[in-house]
Amino acid sequence: MDAVLIDGKAISAQIKDELKEKTQKLKAETQTEITLAVVLVGEDPASQVYVRNKRKACEYIGYRSLAFELPADTTQDCLLNLVKDLNGRDDVDGILVQMPLPSQIDEKKVINAISPAKDVDGFHPMSVGALCIGEPGFVSCTPAGVIQLLKRSGVEIAGKECVIVGRSNIVGKPMAMLMLRENATVTVAHSKTRDLKEVCRRADILIAAIGRHRMITADYVKEGAVVIDVGINRIPETGKLCGDVDFDDVLPHVSAITPVPGGVGPMTIAMLMNNCYEAFIMRRKN
Ligand code: GUN
Repeated sequence: MDAVLIDGKAISAQIKDELKEKTQKLKAETQTEITLAVVLVGEDPASQVYVRNKRKACEYIGYRSLAFELPADTTQDCLLNLVKDLNGRDDVDGILVQMPLPSQIDEKKVINAISPAKDVDGFHPMSVGALCIGEPGFVSCTPAGVIQLLKRSGVEIAGKECVIVGRSNIVGKPMAMLMLRENATVTVAHSKTRDLKEVCRRADILIAAIGRHRMITADYVKEGAVVIDVGINRIPETGKLCGDVDFDDVLPHVSAITPVPGGVGPMTIAMLMNNCYEAFIMRRKN
């Protein structure tokens, strides 16, 4: 069977282009700009790359981005004060505090301090709760991106067996809620799951969000399944980027699959940009 390669780079580019067009119209109509505030504490190189990419995406679409780069020894109070200030600013639509934060800062306190109306990461307990009960609210960007990949690739979700491997707060759990919302039958598996291979082999749609390179091999995959690889790992020996799925091993058995890099990865920023647009619209509706 020839597998379809789900092209996250192309789909994310399409989403960004759609947003760019909508943003141009919005600017012409309202004479205002959609604004994302990005807060980075410290000098973690990976975080610096993520933040730079978020800023570049804003620039491409036509959003205004405000950068707040704070030293690594910033106190929790100082960061909380900045968040409070951004919550109150009428010219700020979305707030993103890049994680991880230095050890003197309690990440939970910071997440809880962000106004749910500006929580474009979808990490606030109000956003997570809204997702669980089907109320409007921001959805965590990576799982929202997976839904877009499936829909825009023509994969039917309703009625399908979906197995998610991984139960993190920002991927596995919201992913389960989103697949449920799309009427899939959902199983969340994890490191303590008995007979993991058997469980995974039930899946019509298998979503790997484990964080262990190439763990999902052909013997975890049902013939003809759709496999979505959320993992971004570096192979220790070579430093090369790879997913949680052993791509070459699995490929002959799937009907569709996402590569790493170029699958789920690029979707996260596209969905963040989509959340910023929604934040702008929602704040002006209320
Ligand atoms: N660190 C790694 N991924 C993310 C993300 O999606 N949002 C934030 N705020 N920090 C991150």
